[in-house]
Amino acid sequence: MSNDPLVVFTPSGKRGHFPAGTPILTAARQLGVDLDSVCGGRGICSKCQITPSYGEFSKHGVTAKDGALSEWNSVEQRYKDKRGLIDGRRLGCQATVQGDIVIDVPPESQVHRQVVRKAASARAMVMDPAVRSYYVEVAEPDMHTPTGDLERLGIALKEQWGIEDITTGMSVLRKLQPVLRKGKWTCTVVLHKGHQDTVHRILDI
Ligand code: FES
Repeated sequence: MSNDPLVVFTPSGKRGHFPAGTPILTAARQLGVDLDSVCGGRGICSKCQITPSYGEFSKHGVTAKDGALSEWNSVEQRYKDKRGLIDGRRLGCQATVQGDIVIDVPPESQVHRQVVRKAASARAMVMDPAVRSYYVEVAEPDMHTPTGDLERLGIALKEQWGIEDITTGMSVLRKLQPVLRKGKWTCTVVLHKGHQDTVHRILDI
């Protein structure tokens, strides 16, 4: 019997013991809980939102006390200030386990992966696609430091994903500004880079 805190996820009912300090997103992944993440745990996509529940849960055999999760942190506050977060929600990539806790995964945080069942095979596959999607948070225009949308998108890709040297065509340039405005200065960028290429080409946003 582990002395580590017990984490119970609902609605799946999946449960497991995790050392104090384990991010909820990590616990969810280890248990195979359907909890989304697009930004790689950087606290910018909010896809990993969860609702912790406190109190006595006889059904789960858990009593969750105050302090069962780490304190609300500056990354969560920054997200809430900028984009808003429903009261009671936490970011699963930021909140860490400190004690026994029940975690509800709201529907919008579930990935709903579609599973195509086929006969099992033991073939090893190396995934290295030339086309990938990246979620980025782009700085808003600032009249004191005038920069173009593409330039700020390039800075965001470099800072948030380490991607340098991007190029794109007119069709993307035309829709860049409306897409960024609509997405409140966030967007998902589809990049292509073949093995011989030196730059990433933005295929779509
Ligand atoms: S994984 Fe993106 S905010 Fe938590």
